[in-house]
Amino acid sequence: MKINLVPNQIQKTKGDCLIVFVTATNTNDDSYLLNISQKLNIDLNQHLPNRITNKVESIFSIPLLNESNVKHLLIVGSGKPETLSYDIIRKVIGKSIRKARALNYESVTIDSCPFEQSKLKKEKILQIISETLIMGQYQFSYFKSTKEPLSNIENINILSSSPSNKSFQAALSKGCIIATAVNEARNLANTPANELTPKQVTEYAKDMFQKDKLIDLSIITPNKAHQLGMNGLLNVGKGSENKPYCLVLKYMPIKKKDPIAIIGKGVTFDSGGISIKPSRGMNSMKADMTGAAAVISSMFAISELKPSLNIMAIVPLAENMPAGNALKPGDVITAMNGKSIEVINTDAEGRLILADAICYAVKENAKLIIDIATLTGASLVALGELAAAVIGNNDDEINQLIKISQETGDRVWQLPNYDEFKDYLKSDVADIANCSEGRYGGTCTAAKFLEQFVDKTDWLHIDIASVMKTKKTQGDQVTGMSGSGVRNIVEFLLAKEKSHK
Ligand code: BES
Ligand code: ZN
Ligand code: ZN
Repeated sequence: MKINLVPNQIQKTKGDCLIVFVTATNTNDDSYLLNISQKLNIDLNQHLPNRITNKVESIFSIPLLNESNVKHLLIVGSGKPETLSYDIIRKVIGKSIRKARALNYESVTIDSCPFEQSKLKKEKILQIISETLIMGQYQFSYFKSTKEPLSNIENINILSSSPSNKSFQAALSKGCIIATAVNEARNLANTPANELTPKQVTEYAKDMFQKDKLIDLSIITPNKAHQLGMNGLLNVGKGSENKPYCLVLKYMPIKKKDPIAIIGKGVTFDSGGISIKPSRGMNSMKADMTGAAAVISSMFAISELKPSLNIMAIVPLAENMPAGNALKPGDVITAMNGKSIEVINTDAEGRLILADAICYAVKENAKLIIDIATLTGASLVALGELAAAVIGNNDDEINQLIKISQETGDRVWQLPNYDEFKDYLKSDVADIANCSEGRYGGTCTAAKFLEQFVDKTDWLHIDIASVMKTKKTQGDQVTGMSGSGVRNIVEFLLAKEKSHK
């Protein structure tokens, strides 16, 4: 599917399907629509017995047959001009491209000019349009014998006031790269655990980065993990036939500069272990590697966008299963930095593998650590399915991430990092417990646990359990696993590049 910017000349549109947006309230005599009907040489009123509205996501579908160069016109409501937002653009673009796909068209033209006239940033609008066109058409039908019909859309032309503007074109292709990365993350998260073991994730990454000269890939095998003292990872993985691994990807274009580390939780299946989970909903624990998927896919986007910034990705991978030799509640293990941990609950496994990955990042002199993980069900209790939680030890970094997330579509909301949460993690026998006996403040106590391993390094933790899954197809979201986190990580890193220049 090709996405191009073309001059704003509706009269020259030859594509099958033209998508236009109405923001005016007084729509039937709206000058914008009158202008379109004149240019298409049609009498719109004849096609519009009812008054059309600017209600967000309302679609008026008008087949034009042989009346015009264009076969089909979609008039899509996008609210009042003064309330137009990036989220509304996502909603209306997603809705209309899925409609054009259902109508089976090959070539689609979208008039982005009404958006360009708003106060929103023009480049951002174009980036969001291209992201939504790609993310909004995502399908995962790999395992279905009758596949959902693939999109016939081959060409999308976006009408723009300045189609040859280099920064507009760059924004469009940035959107394509990021959306492709999000869809890859969705593929990984949707793939079931019998098809995606820790080792298979490493093989997937090998395939992806094999020919990429900018990315250096290395794999920490169980033996190597043993030498390094990664006992959190080894203990979580020991109840499974599928051995644990840790993937390390380095993108280091600048010599002698410490990297930013991004760490993703890669539990390819979380049964809970001996502290086994209830069976209802356990199937969705195949996506307990959404953090890993986000990190790997972000590295793919980074290798395409090529910022001048050193980045190191660390992805601990394990399957959490109950077995005769599995980790047990009450066991005491020693993390890579020598701290002893009492395992109160084997279902709090993500923090055990992340602890080792964080220690590894500290050893590699990371100047900032960002970890992303489907860590706690408590994040759903706190935020519903509407935002990820962010907790950290540096308010400037937290505020920067929040600011960025307000434009990316991946919402985050800050939760507190009070010192007193450490009291929830007291152990009678070890330096720290992996969780508290009680259920209160679960997202905060999980973060407090991770903080014990970051040393003095600046650190941001993003809990994406709440947004792991999408229930309703809307805008750029499609039912299934969301691929959440990629946009925030990539944009956050790109912003870091800018602020360091
Ligand atoms: N992977 C789960 C968290 C999760 C829950 C992710 C729902 C996505 C959706 C995590 O490993 C877990 O089980 N956490 C426990 C921690 C508890 C035992 C302290 C939880 O949230 O219940
Ligand atoms: Zn768990
Ligand atoms: Zn888990």
